[in-house]
Amino acid sequence: MSHPFVPSPNVASIKESATIAVSQRAKALRAAGRSIIDLGAGEPDFDTPAFILEATKAALDAGATRYTAVDGIAPLREAIAAAATHRRAGRDAPVSAGEVVVTTGSKQALQNATFVLFGPGDDVLMPVPSWVSYVEMVGIARANVIAVPGDPSCGLKVTPALLERHATPSTRGLMLNSPSNPTGAVYDADELRAISDLAAARGWWVISDEIYGRITYSMPEAPSMLDVAATRDNLVVVNGVAKAYAMTGFRIGWSIAPRALSQAMTALQSHTTSNAATESQYAALAAMTRTAEADAAVAAMVAEFRARRDAARGILAAIPGLELIEPDGAFYLFFKAPGGDGTAFATRLLESEGIAVVPGAAFGTPEWVRASYAAARSDVERGMRAIVHAWPA
Ligand SMILES: Cc1ncc(COP(=O)(O)O)c(C=O)c1O
Repeated sequence: MSHPFVPSPNVASIKESATIAVSQRAKALRAAGRSIIDLGAGEPDFDTPAFILEATKAALDAGATRYTAVDGIAPLREAIAAAATHRRAGRDAPVSAGEVVVTTGSKQALQNATFVLFGPGDDVLMPVPSWVSYVEMVGIARANVIAVPGDPSCGLKVTPALLERHATPSTRGLMLNSPSNPTGAVYDADELRAISDLAAARGWWVISDEIYGRITYSMPEAPSMLDVAATRDNLVVVNGVAKAYAMTGFRIGWSIAPRALSQAMTALQSHTTSNAATESQYAALAAMTRTAEADAAVAAMVAEFRARRDAARGILAAIPGLELIEPDGAFYLFFKAPGGDGTAFATRLLESEGIAVVPGAAFGTPEWVRASYAAARSDVERGMRAIVHAWPA
């Protein structure tokens, strides 16, 4: 007898990640013999720095193969707390290790926070475009997403006025991501402060995803909510090692949040994954504490990203009137598609030119397209030339 699968209400509306879907289509075309350049990816194409690999091997040799505390090894949480305390510059009590939860990728920190903070009947303000997983995470918590379209005249960023315009009596919090995936826009300190002040005044939680914070071009590092927030009482800062240190596969992220919330997230995590992989925590510890080597590695990667970004912009300049968000952080170019149909243009680029990009519909903005420059410079350049070639005259 067949047994039909009926998804539970928890996942009734869940969609597979559109970015992963593009990569899979690109892989399928490649397997069929087509030459495909993948500008759909969201991960650095660099090798993990050697000192981090050596630290990981040394940790394994020293027996780092067993469970750790659910919220992570103490020296890693202490290093993360110390870095956060430094950013607070004495504005409040030092951030303690008890306010840090180490997670399996920053994705789990975001999932922990959304699930613990929001539930049925709650509204969550979602700046749009937004990274693909936020909407699904809020949906898994069975809370409502309230889309807040970003201002096209300001890098598609949201302002306090826009947030206020969309707020409801049931609003419990907002998601923020700077530097932004998919736009590459960066909120400056004043913009972050204004949003933080509004959230504090309205009693909203702020979940600030700062995973691309070290990948910026016009400043050494992106401003963090930790730099500007008057209070940390309503703040969850999420970060991790994946993007800055080319460590996507290690799966280490973390949250910095008030102690009671951190305890609740740890309790949730104790029933899902327990601790993040032990040897990966030691790898992240090396990235966070061997700062001279880490800074040099980050600087080299950012310099290469910058060269690719500049080359890409130079080629795209051939398209008159192209609407391109100023790419000041992360490794994405976000532009409005010809005719305002991002899906049609992404499909044309893949099928006719062999270039994989992500249609803006994945991020809630169907007129736009995201191209990643986390690919070899020659591939980025070929991809950009193909975009110019495919652009209607
Ligand atoms: C904005 C944003 N947040 C979080 C993540 C997840 O990163 P991690 O590998 O740390 O789970 C990504 C990865 O693409 C991202 O782009």
